[in-house]
Amino acid sequence: MTAGPFENLLVDRDGAVATITISRPKVLNALNTQTLDELRRAILDLAHDDSVRVVILTGSGEKSFVAGADINEIALQTPTSGRTHAMTGQHVFDLIETMGKPVIAAINGYALGGGCELALACTIRIAADTARLGQPEINLGIIPGYGGSQRLTRLIGRGPALEMLLTGDQISAADAYRLGLVNRVVTAANLMGETRKLAHTLASKAPVAVRYILDAVTKGIQMPLPDAQLFEATLFGLVAATEDMREGTKAFLEKRKPEFRGK
Ligand code: COA
Repeated sequence: MTAGPFENLLVDRDGAVATITISRPKVLNALNTQTLDELRRAILDLAHDDSVRVVILTGSGEKSFVAGADINEIALQTPTSGRTHAMTGQHVFDLIETMGKPVIAAINGYALGGGCELALACTIRIAADTARLGQPEINLGIIPGYGGSQRLTRLIGRGPALEMLLTGDQISAADAYRLGLVNRVVTAANLMGETRKLAHTLASKAPVAVRYILDAVTKGIQMPLPDAQLFEATLFGLVAATEDMREGTKAFLEKRKPEFRGK
């Protein structure tokens, strides 16, 4: 199991689905250095645990997913420590993006600054209708440092990303949906139920193929199209080595549900 105990995270398991809840209620789940490090350790553990197929990330309480990096720490940063801080956060969020398993952000409230960036590093974002998203760094005289200026732009495009980054305004869950920043919006009461339902659906899919789709999309988007297509073809070939491919195709032909084992 996971390398807990953690002070600022809860890690729960429900079959193949693990849920990480970021819990610093006094500061609306803001990410300080310790919490980022706990998140790094939890993600690495879940990445290496073959019995985990999908991860849900959420915030404790009803008000906030994550209200950003901890401003108490930001206020003290120097050019050198600021750069290190940003690189550390980028490393942790890169681990989330590349852990090889879908990570679903259940955005239960404020996802601001580092909170929005955390959601951006996830595979799929589901927002409660009460959620508020934004990159308010500009209002503190800083800029995003956990990859937000890059992932936001790649996800929603340059115009809307620049507007969010330069105004620092919070947007509603409905507007985030219109911009393609979240995949869907559900009522706050249904957030965890809907998220778990999707998580269990994804957990039933062939894990190696899931990993290759994640690789094909997240790595492929950074490559020129011919290279990305060659990468896709190589993964397509590789997946033919799996028992799950044999099981999936055989189950279809035998008109039954496949049972994927991740082999
Ligand atoms: N870092 C550190 N502390 C934070 C925080 C953060 N990112 N976000 C909220 N908090 C703290 C507040 O300072 C406050 O502490 P206090 O009770 O000791 O005064 C507590 O969390 C509750 O926040 P508060 O501002 O009173 O709640 P609110 O409902 O009035 O406003 C927000 C909620 C999210 C709009 C507001 O807290 C906010 O703007 N937070 C900062 C968001 C931000 O700029 N994030 C990017 C950081 S780089």
